[in-house]
Amino acid sequence: MSALTLRPIRLPAEFNAIHRVINDSAQAYSGVIPADCWHEPYMSQSELEAEIADAVHFTVASRANELVAVMGVQDRDAVMLIRHAYVSTHARRSGIGSALLRHVCQLSDKPFLIGTWAAATWAIEFYCRHGFKVVSDSDKDELLGRYWRVPARQVKTSVVLADQRWSATAC
Ligand SMILES: CC(C)(COP(=O)(O)OP(=O)(O)OC[C@H]1O[C@@H](n2cnc3c(N)ncnc32)[C@H](O)[C@@H]1OP(=O)(O)O)[C@@H](O)C(=O)NCCC(=O)NCCS
Repeated sequence: MSALTLRPIRLPAEFNAIHRVINDSAQAYSGVIPADCWHEPYMSQSELEAEIADAVHFTVASRANELVAVMGVQDRDAVMLIRHAYVSTHARRSGIGSALLRHVCQLSDKPFLIGTWAAATWAIEFYCRHGFKVVSDSDKDELLGRYWRVPARQVKTSVVLADQRWSATAC
């Protein structure tokens, strides 16, 4: 199998490519997350532009010159958020998500948090495998309110996972 390359996204050249990866990968949510939270495309071009403008920094993974995955990080003062982690459907379960996660978690010494749908059990399993833990419901509500901008409905239907650095600072 060809080598995997991880590097910062090149913009604007790779905008359309990551937009495709995100919406292909987000098909995993269809029929799984609450119906009123699903829409297609899952992320519009303008939403992606807004995320980039809001300082979500994307790392991309490419293999054989094909961009196959993307993962963003966003600096929120005391913590780093992992935002928009997506591996193309055909490239999953071959270690790409893990390689990206290890890579982005080395970009800062700050604690890392990730918010995802409670129904996305595969994603929860994936982060737990990398040492993240699901925080309590009350911590989740507080953290989503403090660091994210998500509608109340999404807060209700999400979980937040935190890495070991966060658990150490929270004790
Ligand atoms: C979550 C995601 C990023 C993981 O990327 P990946 O490249 O497939 O993950 P890796 O190959 O590095 O790691 C695989 C491990 O993650 C977990 N995992 C991944 N997909 C899983 C699934 N469908 N069911 C159960 N566990 C799963 C398992 O622990 C798995 O290990 P295993 O294959 O030995 O059982 C990818 O599945 C994805 O893009 N999903 C759709 C979008 C999404 O849910 N994004 C996360 C939102 S925060």
